[in-house]
Amino acid sequence: MTDTVRILDTTLRDGEQAPGFSMTPDGKLRMARALGALKVDVIEAGFAASGQRDSDAISEIARQVEGPVIASLARATRGDIFAAGNALAPAPRRRIHVFIGTSPLHREFKLHMSRETVLENIRSAIAYAREFTDDVEFSAEDAIRTERDYLVECLSAAAAAGATTLNVPDTVGYTTPDEIFDLFRFLSNHVDRSSETIFSAHNHDDLGMAVANSLAAIRGGARQVECAVNGIGERAGNCALEDLVMAIRTRSDAFGVRTDVDSTKIMAASRTLAQITNTRPARNKSIVGANAFAHESGIHQHGVLQNRETYEIMKPEDIGLTTEAIVLGKHSGRHALAARAEALGFVLQGEKLEKAFAAFREVADEVGIVDTARLLGLLSEQETGRPQ
Ligand code: KIV
Ligand code: ZN
Repeated sequence: MTDTVRILDTTLRDGEQAPGFSMTPDGKLRMARALGALKVDVIEAGFAASGQRDSDAISEIARQVEGPVIASLARATRGDIFAAGNALAPAPRRRIHVFIGTSPLHREFKLHMSRETVLENIRSAIAYAREFTDDVEFSAEDAIRTERDYLVECLSAAAAAGATTLNVPDTVGYTTPDEIFDLFRFLSNHVDRSSETIFSAHNHDDLGMAVANSLAAIRGGARQVECAVNGIGERAGNCALEDLVMAIRTRSDAFGVRTDVDSTKIMAASRTLAQITNTRPARNKSIVGANAFAHESGIHQHGVLQNRETYEIMKPEDIGLTTEAIVLGKHSGRHALAARAEALGFVLQGEKLEKAFAAFREVADEVGIVDTARLLGLLSEQETGRPQ
């Protein structure tokens, strides 16, 4: 039987922490609904102790979004854990995600703690978190730059205290695929834990390797990957959910695992996030960029018209680009435009619909059939006021 890799989505926590991506409580709820539709396993909805607004947003998501486990981040302190437990109380399934820095740099310069004190904090924090829920995740922040023997001690201590997910973050995006593969294999062989405990990868993209590193971690034994839609997150971002899910799906022969994510909801989630944060992914962004399924050059167009597989390794429909459903051309009306726009994550009503329709008619008069790539460009331009 093929192993399933769980997807923890941290768009609303690590993603929201990054400059330019802050969201209103309503925006967070909307995004959480899109993540629910995507069927991610865990939604990390925020960091409850960071303030009342975040805490309220987590509670609202816990109350209203059905399906995924809802999680809150917490430092390894009683105050943070209490805030997380409280905010998550309305969730039918909840997770507290406790973290503490374990690398020499974090111990010496940030925490001013000895190795033994960090270990004591891990034990007491996880035990306290277990008073609120039996689903507790532990993260050894900056795990990649932590001494291997000490990392094994920290993760074993967390597992003994009741953590069921052991996360090994590459907090600064420093590792390489070979290195992280080897680390996960080493941890799988050395960390003392029960058979239900799973390892998790959380990779940042500072060197552009977050997705490759996450796939290598899976090969090394990770069975949860932490991702964010459109790859948003601290600095250069987190592992992009859409890239990881589609790599696993498209190259199941190479990775031999699956996820439970409904890939046909990827485009809608990506567009929802872009609308909420007013930031679109780059045109050439893999999977969700406006060019990802567009074919402009004559040679490519000719090939695709004969057989799509000449230049396409995935079908647009696989990510929710429903190209065939309704052909949009100069005879199409407002309803057809609004329906296609909605499938792409754009809500068009009232004056917005009128303006978009006028722009659409102009393009349709010129080109006949308005394909998905062109429509995405047009809708984005309407939204941002900038040519795409
Ligand atoms: O990058 C990181 O180390 C984190 C942890 C808090 C999981 O975001
Ligand atoms: Zn992170």
